[in-house]
Formats: sequence, C-alpha cells, structure tokens
Amino acid sequence: MPRGTRVILVTGGAGFIGSNFVLDWLAAERTPVVNLDKLTYAGNLENLAGLKNDARHTFVKGDINDRALVAKLLREHRPQAVVNFAAESHVDRSIHGPADFVQTNIMGTFSLLEEARAYWSNLKEAEKSDFRFLHASTDEVYGSLGANDPAFTETTPYAPNSPYAASKAASDHLVRSYHHTYGLPVVTTNCSNNYGPYQFPEKLIPLMVVNAAKRKPLPVYGDGKNVRDWLYVGDHCEAVRLALKRGRPGETYNIGGNAEKTNLEVVNALCAILDEIRPQPHITHHSSLITHVQDRPGHDRRYAMDAGKLRSELGWMPREQFDTGLKKTVQWYLDHMAWVDGVVSGAYRSWIDLNYGRRERA
Ligand code: NAD
Ligand code: DAU
Repeated sequence: MPRGTRVILVTGGAGFIGSNFVLDWLAAERTPVVNLDKLTYAGNLENLAGLKNDARHTFVKGDINDRALVAKLLREHRPQAVVNFAAESHVDRSIHGPADFVQTNIMGTFSLLEEARAYWSNLKEAEKSDFRFLHASTDEVYGSLGANDPAFTETTPYAPNSPYAASKAASDHLVRSYHHTYGLPVVTTNCSNNYGPYQFPEKLIPLMVVNAAKRKPLPVYGDGKNVRDWLYVGDHCEAVRLALKRGRPGETYNIGGNAEKTNLEVVNALCAILDEIRPQPHITHHSSLITHVQDRPGHDRRYAMDAGKLRSELGWMPREQFDTGLKKTVQWYLDHMAWVDGVVSGAYRSWIDLNYGRRERA
C-alpha cells in the first residue's frame, strides 16, 4: 500500500464478523484495511481468501495485547480509525475457562485504548477530530429480559450474567471512560446475535446445520425456549460502517434484527429448510434429530434490541428477513463443508467432548 494512504485498522478481522466486515468494507469503500488478528481457533485466513490479490488488504498476525506491535502499526500506517472486533466470543467457552476472556476482552481492549490514545494525542487537530475508535460489543451486557419486558435500549443498566458478558461489559466501560476522561473519539455498538457465512461451527446455527447434514443429534439446551434477536451479519457490517462514519463520538448504538425467535423455532426452521433443499435417506424430518440436553449454567432467557436510535440518527434498518437470511446461510454451509472441515481441528473435537460429553439428556 503506498505511504500516506489513509487506512483503517481492524482487529479480529479473520473471525466471523470481522472477516465479513473487511470483505464488506473493501467492496463498499476505497480506504484500505490493516487487519490485526491473533488467529486463535476462531480466526481463519480462508475467510479472506477472496482478498489475496487485493493490495488494499494487509494482514498482520498478532495479539491486541502486544502493545509494541499495536504502537508500531499505528505509527507506520497512521489509521484514521481503529475498529475492534478482536475478542473471545463464545459464552460456553467462557463458562469452562474465563481467563482468556479477561485477557483478550478486558486487557486487550485496554492495551488498544492506551496505544490509540497515545497515537491520537499526537495527531494534528483536524486529524484528531476525524479519528474514531469503534468498539464492537454485544447485547449480552444488558443481562436477561422477562417475556414481556421492553427491548434493551442504550440506557438499559448493564447486568452481565456470564464471564463472557462481564468481560465485554468491562471493555465497554473502559471505552466509555477513555472518551469521558481523555476525549478519545470512541463509538460503541452493541449488537444482537449474528448469523451468516464464516461463523465458527460452535455457535447455534452453524453447529445445528453441520450436525443435521451429518445426521448427528441437535443438542438444544434446556427447554429450548430461550429467545435471541437474530441479525444477518451483512446488516451488522453495514451498521458498523455507518456508525464509524456518522456515529457521534462518546455515543453507544444498539443494533438488532427485530427477529426474536426461541432456539427451538430457529432449529426447527433450519431443519425444515434442510428437509426441502437437502433431503436425506432414512430421515423424513431433520427435526427428529433434536435432543434436549442439560441447560447452560446461568443461561439468559431472552435478549431483544431496540435499534431505534440507529434508525433515527443514521437511517439504518436491517435489509435481510430472518427466513431468507436463514435459507441463504443453510445453503452456504452446505456448499462450504470443506471450509467447515478445515476450521474444525483436533482441538475442536476436544471442545465438543468437554462441552457436550458430560451434558446429560434433559
Ligand atoms: P469470533 O470468535 O468469530 O472472532 C474473533 C476474532 O478475534 C478471531 O479471528 C480471533 O482470532 C481474534 N482474536 C481473539 N483474540 C485475539 C487477540 N488477543 N488479539 C487479536 N485477535 C484476537 O467472534 P465474532 O463472533 O466475529 O465476534 C466479533 C466481535 O463482535 C466480538 O467482540 C463479539 O463480542 C462481538 N459480537 C458478536 C456477536 C455474534 O453474534 N457473533 C454479536 C454481537 C457482538
Ligand atoms: O447476543 C449476542 C451474542 O450472541 C454474542 O455477543 C456472542 O459472541 C455470540 O456467541 C452469541 O451468544 P449466544 O450465547 O446467544 O450464542 P450461541 O450461538 O452460543 O447460542 C444461541 C442460543 O442457543 C443460546 O440460547 C444457547 C443455545 N444453544 C447453543 C448451542 C451452542 C443450544 O441450545 N445448543 C447449543 O449447542
């Protein structure tokens, strides 16, 4: 990339949402991307294979906790924004081993903020006011809703319930404080459950599609009536792009799909799609594979996002409907079983044993 070109620094850009964001950004914008990712089990360069010949994408393997590396990237590339997707993101993993979540989600965000602050404070005035630190966060920081409660808004008090949610809440508070105390121009987005291509098959939708395609049991936690608000990942990427360009510094924006579903509704819907597009011998209904298993400890009952602020301030609305988005997604996994086989390593098989091996049927 030529010296002096304006760029954005994206962290976690080889993960599910990060890689969709980088692909979406480079399709829509001219500004090049420097992509810093540690390539944990969840990061995969295959997601970015389409950018192999795109000089606007520079990949750097590294940890957001490596402050010398972050400082060097900021010094050399002089980005106009940092977009932070790097995180440990799976709730079940945070229950089995919270330490990595504290290290990356809290300490890593702190390291990025410190280096961003040092870089930003030495910028010229015009560049300083244009700079943004966008922090991608989650609806889980708000806790759990009852069946008739109104959806979360940006003023809902934080009440995180899992080590994952607590680590994200802590990072959100740090981000907020860097604006309030130092004036760093930050924007935080809190998003509901995403689905779409390149999601690691430990999460509900890809796990169920892959298991069903292989005629394995579909492990639904508890009674399966927990509710999530589903958003197609491309819609999330567009919302982040808008928030980055036009979001007001110091503000937080909720992002949601307006598509509340129980887990059983989601699993039954994807089974019905498989019945139609990939019928299998000896299985009349893929839903016959559903197996209720022991619940997730501390399992939040319901999430729902009120994205009214994003709609009224920035004009954002999700484009994808849940049924069409789900159909596209199921088809994508069926068409990319080689990708699935490539990302699930031996370590993934150990994770399946740890998470599901001792979960009794409910
Ligand atoms: P993911 O687990 O698929 O990807 C995370 C990426 O971060 C991976 O590429 C991983 O290698 C990288 N990473 C992890 N630790 C790192 C470190 N220390 N340094 C550099 N890179 C590191 O996660 P995702 O689902 O794409 O989520 C991305 C962000 O969006 C997270 O902050 C998550 O909390 C948030 N979010 C996710 C969802 C969702 O439904 N998936 C919804 C709302 C918010
Ligand atoms: O709400 C946003 C969050 O959504 C993000 O911040 C997280 O990074 C992301 O992982 C996701 O968290 P969830 O815990 O909601 O997603 P998950 O796909 O793990 O589970 C969705 C629901 O499905 C949840 O109620 C648990 C249930 N579930 C999940 C798995 C993996 C099952 O019933 N069986 C399963 O095997």
